[in-house]
Amino acid sequence: MRVLILGADGYLGWATCMHFSGKGHEVAGIDNYFRRNSGLELDCESLIPVPNLVQRARIWKELAGGKLRVSIGDVTDYNFLLEAFREFRPDSVIHYAEQPSAPYSMINRDKAAFTTRNNLISTINIAYAVKEVNPDCHIIKLGTMGEYGTPNIDIEEGWIDIEHKGRKDRFLFPRQASSVYHTSKVQDTDLLWFYVRTWGLRVTDLMQGPVYGVSTDESDLDHRLMPIFNYDEIFGTVLNRFIVQAVAGQPLTVYGKGGQVRGYLNIKDTMQCVYLAALNPADRGELRVFNQVTETFSVNELAGHVRRAGKGLDYDVKVKAVENPRVEKEEHYYNPKYTGLLELGLKPHYLTDDVLCGMFRAVEKYKDRINRDAIFRGVKWR
Ligand SMILES: NC(=O)c1ccc[n+]([C@@H]2O[C@H](COP(=O)([O-])OP(=O)(O)OC[C@H]3O[C@@H](n4cnc5c(N)ncnc54)[C@H](O)[C@@H]3O)[C@@H](O)[C@H]2O)c1
Repeated sequence: MRVLILGADGYLGWATCMHFSGKGHEVAGIDNYFRRNSGLELDCESLIPVPNLVQRARIWKELAGGKLRVSIGDVTDYNFLLEAFREFRPDSVIHYAEQPSAPYSMINRDKAAFTTRNNLISTINIAYAVKEVNPDCHIIKLGTMGEYGTPNIDIEEGWIDIEHKGRKDRFLFPRQASSVYHTSKVQDTDLLWFYVRTWGLRVTDLMQGPVYGVSTDESDLDHRLMPIFNYDEIFGTVLNRFIVQAVAGQPLTVYGKGGQVRGYLNIKDTMQCVYLAALNPADRGELRVFNQVTETFSVNELAGHVRRAGKGLDYDVKVKAVENPRVEKEEHYYNPKYTGLLELGLKPHYLTDDVLCGMFRAVEKYKDRINRDAIFRGVKWR
């Protein structure tokens, strides 16, 4: 396969570049360094210092010899993207190139507007480039489980059959996002669904839960190949943040009652899921949706797991409830279905104490770089 990865320098993008390249596929990666620049702007850079994308690609080729070319540019710049499509002619395009943080999108009006513009224009540009260069190209777009919110009914895998006044039809499962970022993800799903219906594109939308983990099979080759790793309130996902708080000797900050339940997955499983989706493309004119999680936890349960694993390593981990800066239900029903990727062959890596201890050990190596001020700032929803 010829696979174009947009957002190639990011937490998931870089690991995905190596994963596909390591399996013998031709990979091209694009990134505009938005994430690195925002880390500098907001003083919340990656815990793990990583070489830039061009340097990482060079190191990967020296060590693994895979086919991987990278370029720096903005996916919202249509001419740039179209040129990249024409040159590389991908069979699949993996779209990670979005502003991925809920708190970032809630900082102020400018960040909300940037998030909306960046995420929606990048998605429109990809649809146009695919139509113009190769309408058969499979678009794999990362959505988020946050699109569904926390409804008081089971969450289906993307679609729901509705019977209304004696008639039946199938619709996208109702979405009710809880931040501007999540709303932009709902909207880019809607955009792709429109282009699937109108142009017959083939699209897989992966509704992913928060990802945790520091290493993949490929990044374990050399520390310079590790993913960026954020633990701050803006870009760090909750479990990554809890591990860093534990290592830094700070109490784990649980928002409100801590009964918020979400689906989670290990970064190794993100690699598997995206790879399985690429090997088994959606049909022309199909928007296929998978819920990309492997297990669910409440925030209190996650804090409890980190505390227990930390105890085994002689950490005295404390947990502190803080006023919830977000507007969200703190106790609710949550029962998502997530069988589609398992049926394609996903073999989950569950959250065991071994996995948690591995994360503690990885973070300990960079303990001196922890910026305590970045961990909790309390970006408020209102
Ligand atoms: N990490 C998670 O837990 C998680 C969970 C659910 C969904 N997702 C989704 O997965 C995708 C990747 O997430 P991530 O954690 O790797 O984020 P990330 O910020 O680490 O990676 C995204 C990359 O895209 C780049 N980018 C953003 N806008 C761009 C543009 N216009 N042109 C070129 N490059 C651009 C950024 O510089 C960054 O390197 C996002 O779409 C996110 O919404 C992530």
